[in-house]
Amino acid sequence: MRRWLPLLPLTLIAAVPSFDWGFRRGLEPLPVQGAPGPDRCGRCHAEVDDWKGSRHHSAWSNDIFQAGYILEPQAFCVNCHAPLPEQGDEIEVNHPWYLAMHPESKAPLPAKQPERKADQGIHCSVCHWREGEVLAPKRSGKAPHPVREAPEMSDPAFCKSCHEFPMPAFHGGEIRVTETPMQSTWTEWAAYAAANGKGTCQSCHMPDGKHTFKGGHDIDLLRASVQVDVAVNGEEAVFTLRSVGVGHHFPTGDLFRNLQLQVKENGEWMTLRRFGREFELTPEGTEIVKRLVQETSLVPGVPQEVPAPRGLPWRLDYHYGAPLDEVAGLVPYDRLVVTLLEGTTP
Ligand code: HEC
Ligand code: HEC
Ligand code: HEC
Ligand code: HEC
Ligand code: HEC
Repeated sequence: MRRWLPLLPLTLIAAVPSFDWGFRRGLEPLPVQGAPGPDRCGRCHAEVDDWKGSRHHSAWSNDIFQAGYILEPQAFCVNCHAPLPEQGDEIEVNHPWYLAMHPESKAPLPAKQPERKADQGIHCSVCHWREGEVLAPKRSGKAPHPVREAPEMSDPAFCKSCHEFPMPAFHGGEIRVTETPMQSTWTEWAAYAAANGKGTCQSCHMPDGKHTFKGGHDIDLLRASVQVDVAVNGEEAVFTLRSVGVGHHFPTGDLFRNLQLQVKENGEWMTLRRFGREFELTPEGTEIVKRLVQETSLVPGVPQEVPAPRGLPWRLDYHYGAPLDEVAGLVPYDRLVVTLLEGTTP
């Protein structure tokens, strides 16, 4: 039993090891070879059931990511959404887009594989497996495998390794990072924490150590995360929107995510306010780089007021993708846009 784990002598580690577990923010694959798959860990750990329903599991295979990747097929994306070298190797020869461009290279899918490795996305080993040892915030002394204590796993800095990174730019095939953040969830959380906001990434997204990582794809959670009040002010209705129980901007994460508060006038839905980030493409030397123009997401503790005409149907929609995704048709429209709340202005 357990022959798959090399029996390394347990080394006593006196000091907390420095925090560099190889995450490279998309610039390179994770330098971890021969990592066990999630089914191995799942033989003994029930965490596998929660993880299977998580977005970390479908980080590579989900349709919204795939639609984005088809438009921008870069190693940069692979290095974070399917970060192990063996996952990247598989994508290079098996990705539908790559196959369409290189029909001669049709490599057969690995035999007897219940799931392709890339389809396992961000699995146990991506976060837990380094050099034949399992990283854990604490050692219980009961594990039948080598364990390396990594208390920083309980720190938001661990999640920052992938949930905060800059926009890349490309020059002659070389990648470089720019000043504009592509995602900034950790910085948003740090501002919230500095203002006495309670909770960490782990306490909110892994309650009781659960590996469900609920977020923007849990509609009930989204509905519970925003409070909308509408009052009358003379001739106008006034909306007040605030986020509830969110330890960062709402929306955060992927650059395209946004909320839209709309009213229906003369049979047409019109957007009164878009909550999210807006970018523009600017030339910089021979490159085109993306720059942040404005950020209107809901910030914890900061309500936003929006005036509106009275007596009209309204709705608050959550958009997962870019406007281009919504017309491209690669993902059905009702998977890209969901209505969180609706009503009629007083
Ligand atoms: C995205 C990163 C990530 C992935 C993927 C992940 N884990 Fe974890 N895991 C963590 C973090 C972070 C903690 C510590 C949570 C805390 O401190 O609250 C943890 C805690 C644990 C613990 C409890 C350790 C303790 O001391 O209580 C076990 C067991 C575990 N994970 C197993 C697994 C298994 C099995 C899988 C795959 C099915 C998996 N994890 C996938 C990040 C991850
Ligand atoms: C350094 C890590 C990293 C890199 C590099 C990266 N992403 Fe992501 N991506 C993330 C994280 C973290 C999220 C989760 C945030 C969220 O859910 O909003 C995410 C979410 C997404 C989503 C939203 C998926 C959904 O479930 O709704 C899309 C689409 C996406 N990424 C596409 C891409 C593409 C295309 C590239 C390459 C051009 C890329 N990503 C590069 C980390 C990365
Ligand atoms: C043969 C069964 C078995 C397999 C396979 C296994 N574990 Fe464990 N693991 C245990 C047991 C037993 C413990 C002791 C704590 C407990 O009972 O949960 C443990 C503990 C842990 C801990 C907490 C550290 C500690 O000292 O208690 C983490 C994290 C963990 N395992 C992750 C993993 C990951 C990730 C994999 C796959 C790479 C894996 N385990 C594979 C049985 C197993
Ligand atoms: C190896 C990179 C990596 C690490 C480490 C990581 N994540 Fe993620 N996470 C991702 C990617 C990529 C996605 C987006 C998957 C998708 O939908 O395409 C994601 C998705 C999520 C989501 C779901 C977002 C949604 O919209 O549904 C949550 C919540 C989340 N991560 C929380 C965490 C927390 C908390 C930690 C730290 C304990 C963590 N992640 C560590 C890469 C990572
Ligand atoms: C106080 C609790 C809390 C804390 C702390 C927190 N989150 Fe969240 N997070 C939420 C809630 C609630 C949602 C759902 C609303 C939303 O989508 O923003 C969410 C959503 C997300 C999403 C989905 C993207 C989106 O906005 O649609 C990601 C990714 C995420 N969190 C990652 C993180 C990371 C990484 C950290 C730590 C740096 C963190 N969260 C800290 C509560 C929290």
